[in-house]
Amino acid sequence: MARAQAPAFSIAIANLKGGCGKTTISTNLSAGLARRGSVGLVDADPQGALKHWVDWGSREADDAVPTLYAEHADPVENLKVAQPHHEYVVVDCPPSLDMAITRQLMAACDFVLVPVLPSPLDLWASAQTIDVIRSAREERPSLKAALVLNQTEPRSAMSRAMKTAIERLGVPVLSTSVRRRAVYRNAVVEGVSVFQLGGRGQSAANEINQIIQEVIPK
Ligand SMILES: Nc1ncnc2c1ncn2[C@@H]1O[C@H](COP(=O)(O)OP(=O)(O)O)[C@@H](O)[C@H]1O
Ligand SMILES: [Mg+2]
Repeated sequence: MARAQAPAFSIAIANLKGGCGKTTISTNLSAGLARRGSVGLVDADPQGALKHWVDWGSREADDAVPTLYAEHADPVENLKVAQPHHEYVVVDCPPSLDMAITRQLMAACDFVLVPVLPSPLDLWASAQTIDVIRSAREERPSLKAALVLNQTEPRSAMSRAMKTAIERLGVPVLSTSVRRRAVYRNAVVEGVSVFQLGGRGQSAANEINQIIQEVIPK
């Protein structure tokens, strides 16, 4: 396990709503970051999907895989254990029941990335998550945040209602969005990331790399 000089740049993937892409983005973002430096991955969702994913993935001959931290029942503890050992840490945050835990996780991170589906209803539903970010900033004022649109379609222009909903949330949106692609669903069931799918995963890997460039400080 590599020991980094400074504590890891830590990214929480959070939305109190389920099904918006937290786990999909956590797996692929952590795999993309693992190509740049060592990565710790914290599964804060009690459903524990990442354990299955990492178990599957370890069968692949690929050294650029994130290390899963799941020793403690408390995900905040797992995050603190991971941070001194890596350049990057990615946290897959839990859905609504554990709002207090999400706040603590955010307050221990540098960046919160909020995946949202591209509909005004889903954006409005994210307002509660943005409130939790504001609350975490009372403890950690330097905490950065951005929305990332997930499951977008190639030619769908953003509606006026969407633009208004985003402005009201008061959090920037990454210029890169994650398209709806079958490879994201296939990669997770194969226990790999889109980076391990060769040509099949290339377009997806490119967009994940662009997201990394927007999120990681230069
Ligand atoms: N960009 C995408 N393209 C295609 N399918 C996606 C994409 N993002 C998520 N999915 C699928 O949507 C479902 C919900 O995503 P998931 O990452 O599990 O959300 P969450 O962790 O927020 O509950 C999963 O079946 C996942 O495979
Ligand atoms: Mg999930």
